[in-house]
Amino acid sequence: MATSMVVDFEKGQKALDSVFKTSNEAKAEIAKYGKDTVIDGTIGTMMDEEGQIIFLPTVKKEFLSLSSTDYVSYAPIIGNEAYHKAVIAECFGDHKPATPMRVVSTVGGTGAIHHLMHNYAEQGTEVLISDWHWGAYDQICAEQKVKLRTFSMLTEDCTFDFDSFKKEVTYLADHQERVVILLNTPGNNPTGYTITTEEWQQIIDFLKAIADNGENKVILSVDVAYIDYAGDGDKVREFFALFENLPRHLLVTINYTLSKGFTMYGLRAGALIALSSDQDVLDEFTTIGTLASRGTWSNVCHPAMQTVVNIMNDLAKFKVYEEERKASYQMIEERAHIFESEAKACGLHILPYCGGFFITIPCQNAKAIVADLKAKHIFVIAMANGIRVAVCSMPKRHVKGLATKIKDAMDVRA
Ligand SMILES: Cc1ncc(COP(=O)(O)O)c(C=O)c1O
Repeated sequence: MATSMVVDFEKGQKALDSVFKTSNEAKAEIAKYGKDTVIDGTIGTMMDEEGQIIFLPTVKKEFLSLSSTDYVSYAPIIGNEAYHKAVIAECFGDHKPATPMRVVSTVGGTGAIHHLMHNYAEQGTEVLISDWHWGAYDQICAEQKVKLRTFSMLTEDCTFDFDSFKKEVTYLADHQERVVILLNTPGNNPTGYTITTEEWQQIIDFLKAIADNGENKVILSVDVAYIDYAGDGDKVREFFALFENLPRHLLVTINYTLSKGFTMYGLRAGALIALSSDQDVLDEFTTIGTLASRGTWSNVCHPAMQTVVNIMNDLAKFKVYEEERKASYQMIEERAHIFESEAKACGLHILPYCGGFFITIPCQNAKAIVADLKAKHIFVIAMANGIRVAVCSMPKRHVKGLATKIKDAMDVRA
């Protein structure tokens, strides 16, 4: 037996995230065979048509012109007020709900989810997440000793499966006091699905009733990592207005990140935003959030946060930044449309793409198919119930023909 020094809880865990692992394999092949031979549809970072990572020009310029103090000084643990205001302005746009809110700065969106699980999900209990979800949720929950319960996100005709959602929420409400729900929308990773405003209305009405039953505490968390790449910026924010008149025992949190919208993936900054009608709940959110930060990463990347403050405080800069971001989104959309239309033409069934960085092909034996594709220098991600293709990271010339190649590989394994 291999020697082990770690605590019992951590024993036997597998080290590397499969997305980063596969992405590293693709990078190694690109170094060996060149970027024209290798198709890399693994990771959620935007690449331009030449295969270079995109750093939105306005963000880059602002970041590179900060003062030395902004680069190296500690930010307040919770983040400063200017950053909180900037995050609220960008996140909610014209649909900021009239509900008191607070912000705690976090290390990316991952940090926000960490704080959510750490502070609001009791160890040993279950939290509810859709069956189609970002793989990192599993690891974050495991680290917090919280179990995942899933509901089926999509019906056969690809709308939000409210019946399944209701069934699983009801189960949790019957078995434990806390009902913690994490939904990733708009532009869900991995499916690209966006919950519509009408579907949101149904969700909120139902959760308000649970929170009012006198027995449960409901924490609804929305991971909006892809909000700036999920369609019309105004339309995709409409659902925020539904987070008003919240009952005392319904806390809503928004997981926000600078990784995607501001293309500062590696700079590691984001925020957890809390909305509640109860002042005590918000005060507690601030105190406990600050303590959790102090006990984990302490402060968040100061220059990343300052860059956002400077852009959001200057309307002219913000407008230019918005245009650049829109252009990047259009680039992803064009790639997605190529994939969608070719998939249709060759009979490859894909999940409905509303926005975001990925397209998903539901299938059973994804691991084997993905291994076969690797042998042909095509790198995509195998999930338990499908294959994820990162249209954000592939030039159009690599997207063209890809649906057919995947369909052929699937037919071989059928
Ligand atoms: C669903 C989802 N949420 C949040 C994030 C944000 O992660 P980060 O910690 O890099 O900001 C990602 C990034 O891939 C994601 O896919």
